[in-house]
Amino acid sequence: MRKPIIAGNWKMYKTNTEARALVNGLKEKTMPAAVEVVLCPPFTALTTVAELLQGTAIGLGAQDLFWEDEGAYTGEVSPLMLKELGCSYVIIGHSERRQYFGETDETVNKKVKAALRHGLKPIICVGESLQQREAGETNAFVAGQVEKALDGLAPESIPQVVIAYEPIWAIGTGRSSSGSDANEVIGLVRQTIAKKFGSSLAEQVRIQYGGSVKPGNIKEFMDQPEIDGALVGGASLKAEDFYGIISY
Ligand code: G3P
Repeated sequence: MRKPIIAGNWKMYKTNTEARALVNGLKEKTMPAAVEVVLCPPFTALTTVAELLQGTAIGLGAQDLFWEDEGAYTGEVSPLMLKELGCSYVIIGHSERRQYFGETDETVNKKVKAALRHGLKPIICVGESLQQREAGETNAFVAGQVEKALDGLAPESIPQVVIAYEPIWAIGTGRSSSGSDANEVIGLVRQTIAKKFGSSLAEQVRIQYGGSVKPGNIKEFMDQPEIDGALVGGASLKAEDFYGIISY
């Protein structure tokens, strides 16, 4: 059985002061045991959040990394640095990084390998644009992203991988996918992994849905057999909203 994972991607929100208030708000609540909960603050708030999360069941993730361990790469953050701060997860290849920061399937693959090399679990984001969906290209496009992201991985690292299926048209728009449409694409993601690594490994991979997830629609996604959690943006920025999601 796969344990569902719900992660909050804070994106470029929350100063340290704001991060502290949000985490303290969450800590007042009882965490559900059936779900793994992870917070992904910006780099600047990782230390603060890591300290506050000590002794809780909430995990810590970063929103990106660079693939080298160290070096002259101004502005970048290495897997070693994230590891030392207490991160267990790292989001890789979010569509905003692909769109605004030149992230490609090749850089995603390098980052996934770097994360795994250091024991960080990658949350790999994939998903089609509205144009691709309307042209009937969703399945081929998403399967291609998954194949390239996982290219060359050792089979034993596959259970460490989390995939987040985030249709771009659903991100921050208030227009979420339907549970059944998301389930269908996520089923296809699992088949793609099965073709490459075999079905018993594919069955162990947790695959989240992301895109306008709210307390009011989370259950629709969690009720689907292929969906193992959610990657939440906007609704992870307030303790009440995020708690409404994780305690669905
Ligand atoms: O990574 C999460 C994300 O892109 C979804 O954002 O605001 O639609 O929940 P949002």
